[in-house]
Amino acid sequence: MDQDEREDRITRMVVRFYELGNADPILAPVFAKAITNFPDHFKVVADFWSHALYGTGRYKGHPFPVHMHLDFGPDAFGAWLACFTQAVNEVLTPMEAQNALARARHMTESFKVGLFPFTLPDGTPSRMPHRKD
Ligand code: HEM
Repeated sequence: MDQDEREDRITRMVVRFYELGNADPILAPVFAKAITNFPDHFKVVADFWSHALYGTGRYKGHPFPVHMHLDFGPDAFGAWLACFTQAVNEVLTPMEAQNALARARHMTESFKVGLFPFTLPDGTPSRMPHRKD
C-alpha cells in the first residue's frame, strides 16, 4: 500500500477526530484549554498513530504524562472513545480501524487506572481517595 496514502489517511482521521471532539460538550473545553496550536498537535497525534499502526518510529514521546495535568473527569474516556471510534470507522481501512481501536481501548483503560486510581462509595473512579470526614 502506498505510504503517502497511508499517512494521509491517518492525518485525515486525526483531523476528523478533533472535528468530532470539538463538537462534544465534555471534550471541547478540555481541548480548547490545553491545545494552543491545533495544526502542530495534529502532527504529533498523527505521528503517534503512524507509529502505533505501522511502527514508523515517527512518535518518540510519552502520552501518559502529557495527560496528567489535564482537567477532565472519568466521563471523558467514554466521550473520547466514541469520537475516536467514529473517526477511525469513517476514515481508516477496516484493518487499520480495528488495530487503532484495540490500541485506543487498551490505552484508555490504562489512562483511567493511572489517572483515577481510587473509587468513590458510589463507584465513580476518582483521582483522590474518599475522605470520610
Ligand atoms: C479522556 C480521554 C482523553 C482526553 C480528554 C485527551 C486529551 C488530550 C489533550 C488535551 C492533549 C494535548 C495535551 C497538551 O499538549 O498539553 C492530548 C495529547 C495526546 N493524546 Fe490524548 N486525551 C485522551 C485520551 C487519549 C488516548 C486514549 C490516547 C491514545 C490512544 C491519546 C493520545 C494522545 C497523544 C498521542 C497526545 C500527544 C502527546 C504528546 O504531546 O506527545 N489520548 N490528549
